Amino acid sequence: MFKIVIFCISLYGASAYFTLPDKCPENVNLQEYFRLQDFYDTWYQAYHFASDGQQKNNCSTLKLLNTPTGIYLNQSRVDRGLFHRYSLGKLEIPSDIEKGSNLDITFTYQNAPRRIKNRRYPFHILATNYHHYATVYTCQYSPLINKHFIYVWILSRTPSLNEVSKTLAIKPLSQIGVDPETLVKDDNSNCAPKYYSDEETEPMTFRYPVPI
Ligand SMILES: *[C@@H]1O[C@H](CO)[C@@H](O)[C@H](O)[C@H]1NC(C)=O
Ligand SMILES: *[C@@H]1O[C@H](CO)[C@@H](O)[C@H](O)[C@H]1NC(C)=O
Repeated sequence: MFKIVIFCISLYGASAYFTLPDKCPENVNLQEYFRLQDFYDTWYQAYHFASDGQQKNNCSTLKLLNTPTGIYLNQSRVDRGLFHRYSLGKLEIPSDIEKGSNLDITFTYQNAPRRIKNRRYPFHILATNYHHYATVYTCQYSPLINKHFIYVWILSRTPSLNEVSKTLAIKPLSQIGVDPETLVKDDNSNCAPKYYSDEETEPMTFRYPVPI
């Protein structure tokens, strides 16, 4: 009985999260000849799209850190105008250099049950010119309800993106069926929150622990 209740709750959660019909987009052309070393350092989230319509934070930045144990992505943000938070994931670099932009990211939750301790999500670079803009997306599919979730980052090297870069950045979105009109512009005007917690939390952009 208890199991059924849990199942129903997670099914309910899943149907709110996975809202787009069918599988993740296939045969998507990603950035060619991707140079990770030129992608390091800070990117500001200038626009985003979350297919489940959730908007829970402002002032999101993505920072690529090159450390002796690997390359990490630090996603920081201000939650509900109040809390400064961040999540840290490890980038999985494809061994095939031709597929350099076909990145994945793994979050590790030490205290989680073994099955959901390491959670890996796509982090695919659709386009970038390294100096101004980057378009990145992730997609998760639920075979159980045959729907998927997409999150798109339109990133900028400066807090706001210029129009020319924006035009280039949104070009590849048609490949994944995202209408540029549905992008949400991020508010980067008030980024000094009341509370500062310098500890890792779960990311808002990859939320479902296991594909179901
Ligand atoms: C991640 O970024 C936030 C905000 O810039 C910072 O406070 C935090 O220390 C960073 N974490 C790591 C591990 O670099
Ligand atoms: C964004 O920041 C404003 C304050 O600048 C705050 O009122 C609003 O709730 C924030 N929105 C989110 C989704 O955090």
